[in-house]
Amino acid sequence: MNGRESIREKNIVIIGFMGVGKTTVGELVAKRLYRTFIDIDKVIEERFEVPIVEVFKQIGEPAFRKIEKEIIIDFCTQKLKVISLGGGAFLQEEIRKIALDNCIVIFLDITWELWKERLNIIINSRPVLQGLTMEEIEDLFNKRQGIYTNHHSRLETDHLNATEIADYIVNSLKLAYELYDPN
Ligand code: S3P
Repeated sequence: MNGRESIREKNIVIIGFMGVGKTTVGELVAKRLYRTFIDIDKVIEERFEVPIVEVFKQIGEPAFRKIEKEIIIDFCTQKLKVISLGGGAFLQEEIRKIALDNCIVIFLDITWELWKERLNIIINSRPVLQGLTMEEIEDLFNKRQGIYTNHHSRLETDHLNATEIADYIVNSLKLAYELYDPN
């Protein structure tokens, strides 16, 4: 792919911090657009046949990031997919580049105030949060905001549920298709 193919065929890539709802929203968007949904963490879990926490324990973060990158590059160079990336994927420049050059990248944003209320639900399944103090987690949250500024579209999710977020994304995409690729 060279980035010049029809905007209608481009993958939709969903980015954002852990627990923001990328998988739930991605699944809904895929259904509404009749596309295949790919959750990169799930692909990795299926490959190793264990949850991500165990993958981190078995191979360590650097090897996880390498596999994560290979899988993302593979899917991002395909078409007509909705792909949800792990919250740390955009730390890697190669991933940012391939996603931004080939896909429509949507950043699901959330405020720290709202996100911290979800921490209890997600902490056990997120290896990078294990053993961190609240300040360290807030620090990570703020640092990650910097890498998510690399996107095509940002959506504030604080006052929306997953269906409303998906509806907003699908409606915006339809408008973009009509405006930029009316045929
Ligand atoms: C990570 C986020 C996770 C998963 C892994 C590392 C991160 O994905 O890829 O635990 O570094 O932010 P989610 O964003 O889907 O939780």
